[in-house]
Amino acid sequence: MNSSCIIVTGGAGYIGSHTLIELLNNTSYRIISIDNFSNSSPSSYDRVKQLTSRDFETINLDLCNETELKKQLSGINNIEGIIHFAAFKSVPDSVADPVLYYHNNIESLNNILKFSQEKKISNFIFSSSCSVYGNADALPVTEETVLKKAESPYGHTKQIGEEIIEFFCKVNPWFNVVTLRYFNPVGAHMSGKTGESPITKPNNLVPIITQTAVGKNSLTVFGSDYDTRDGYCIRDYIHVTDIADAHVKALDYITQKKNRKNFSLFNLGTGNGVSVLEVIRSFERVSGKKLSYTVGDRRKGDVVAVYANNDLAKKELGWKPQYNLDDMMLSAWKWQLNLGGES
Ligand code: WQD
Repeated sequence: MNSSCIIVTGGAGYIGSHTLIELLNNTSYRIISIDNFSNSSPSSYDRVKQLTSRDFETINLDLCNETELKKQLSGINNIEGIIHFAAFKSVPDSVADPVLYYHNNIESLNNILKFSQEKKISNFIFSSSCSVYGNADALPVTEETVLKKAESPYGHTKQIGEEIIEFFCKVNPWFNVVTLRYFNPVGAHMSGKTGESPITKPNNLVPIITQTAVGKNSLTVFGSDYDTRDGYCIRDYIHVTDIADAHVKALDYITQKKNRKNFSLFNLGTGNGVSVLEVIRSFERVSGKKLSYTVGDRRKGDVVAVYANNDLAKKELGWKPQYNLDDMMLSAWKWQLNLGGES
């Protein structure tokens, strides 16, 4: 095993755990995952172990606690890079409790950047989001698209995070960052053996669809009167394993010094805008189940439509999404059935 190590913050989370799988199976780095289980559980690590051929280390740590961070991490040597997932990510929860989101998402980022500066860790991947675009004037959005006002505190914390990192790069030219703007990560590992498992009730569309299908939840579609092709919000849904794969490629991009500047930014979307109704229809097609749902009011913080131009990530990272919408919905359904609760 490579003596160089990669620290993955938020590694027990949805995207973090799927990225652990791809890192362990496709690289030889020593992997250390940091998580405080605020929106995940240690069982996520057990499932990663079932799907990988080598071990990894874990540290239970809240990155907002700088003293604890120093105590637990300063003894780690040969850190080749950090992949920073750890953040709260629910649009509606951030609308309900903005201060919690600003504190958690910004404080943890500041602390991990300070740690990187002290230890001179030069490779950093930042988990950002398409929510930074707000209601963009033109679609698909490219990395050059001017950011509109964020529609939620969650999206705003990602806008702030990107700016903090950009200024940090200016004053630390030795620091190489890749910022990845995820569109809507959905689905589960194609084995059906792990997937999205928030410890609180999910807010995201796809886990609510699969829980509704097994009688564990009820789906309300938030608004059908938007100015879109069918009146429903449009998003760029992308398989979580495609997102995970992009992180392995982004790590290679900066550790092999393929990056042209020390602050690189890429959209991670399929390039396809899909409406809520089209997601429901895809689920019904792959599961063979008719989904019951009601149509309610619009949800505060929602953007009308956003989807990616992903040419830059394909060109620079050599990344190409492998899974289509039906693959995403089938994998999510397989995972839900694995969780049990079929009624
Ligand atoms: C999608 C659509 C809802 C629930 C996500 C993640 C965030 C970030 C951006 C990565 C919207 C509708 C949802 C429901 C519904 N990604 N919906 N009924 O808000 O686009 O944000 O992508 O960082 O992590 O939160 O995702 O799944 O909540 O909503 O009608 O019960 O589904 O209105 O149009 P969103 P979402």
